[in-house]
Amino acid sequence: TTCTASCSAGGSRAWTTPCSSASGSSTASAAASRRASSTTTATSFPSCVRSSAATSRSARRSRTPASSSTRIASSRRGGRKMLARFKATDSHELKCGMDEILEAQRKGEINEDHVLFIVENINVAAIETTLWAMEWAVAELVNHPETQQKLRREMDTVLGAGHQVTEPDTHRLPYLQAVVKEALRLRMAIPLLVPHMNLRAAELGGHGVPAESKVLVNAWHLANDPGLWERPGEFRPERFLEEERHVEAGGNDFRYLPFGAGRRSCPGIVLALPFLCITVGHLVQNFELLPPPGQGMLDTTEKGGQFSLHILKHSTIVAKPRVF
Ligand code: HEM
Repeated sequence: TTCTASCSAGGSRAWTTPCSSASGSSTASAAASRRASSTTTATSFPSCVRSSAATSRSARRSRTPASSSTRIASSRRGGRKMLARFKATDSHELKCGMDEILEAQRKGEINEDHVLFIVENINVAAIETTLWAMEWAVAELVNHPETQQKLRREMDTVLGAGHQVTEPDTHRLPYLQAVVKEALRLRMAIPLLVPHMNLRAAELGGHGVPAESKVLVNAWHLANDPGLWERPGEFRPERFLEEERHVEAGGNDFRYLPFGAGRRSCPGIVLALPFLCITVGHLVQNFELLPPPGQGMLDTTEKGGQFSLHILKHSTIVAKPRVF
């Protein structure tokens, strides 16, 4: 509900650290971001692009040590060179998101800095999140051989042994989808989502939320609350085929928001879910995934990052090829 309230009240977002101990710098960068985005409100570019481009710059300013700022500066120089080689495609051709961004630059709605920040933002939002989710899914499968077996059986039965899973196949593999959903539930990659900000005052569950509050949604708790889920601490993909079969990852149920919900939810869900299904599917189809020799189970102690929940210790697992 928090998420929807903030979205319907304007859907702005402060890309700042959710950590209260850093509130000084985050408040400063949130204020800077509001200022930055308010200077561009006359443009017709979508608000999500305006604010993420401007705020990522202010957020990074407040937390980047000198050594990495040198790296960023040089990678930005490289980015500028690459950018110079690209042109927005002809308007009659099929367009992708990048064309829209270049088109906005051409019209003067955003500048080159904005383009680079948007691309960098998308890269971070897309690559790390997917990587963490994949690591969790593999770790849970290593620790649950019976789930692996059941998944392998589903793919062998539906696709035929040896037929490599492709994206259209994933729609015929409900257990594969359930495995991915369960990994995203139990080990939510972005447990507090990304901080939201309500532009207007709102009321939520009888509580007043002043305008421009930083709103954190504890999506991990919503998805792991024993009052809301049956045995939530267990990795049990079957729940998404049984009592929770109507729950989707796209935000149709506020107990399960691995990608957020509403206007500022993750646009990458259309890429991330098939990608996770295909990768996990391929691995399980072709290999038996086992813990390192001499180790019964993988250590799945969690580590929290700035926004993330990832695995503390990386392990080298054994992937034993299957004989078809
Ligand atoms: C398993 C993979 C992924 C997970 C778990 C994930 C999760 C999230 C979450 C929780 C948010 C914030 C939603 C909110 O606060 O309401 C978000 C935002 C975002 N994600 Fe993802 N994401 C994933 C993959 C991707 C991919 C593949 C892309 C791009 C290709 C992407 C692009 C973005 C962008 C651009 C935003 C910001 C949207 C905005 O501010 O309006 N994500 N993601």
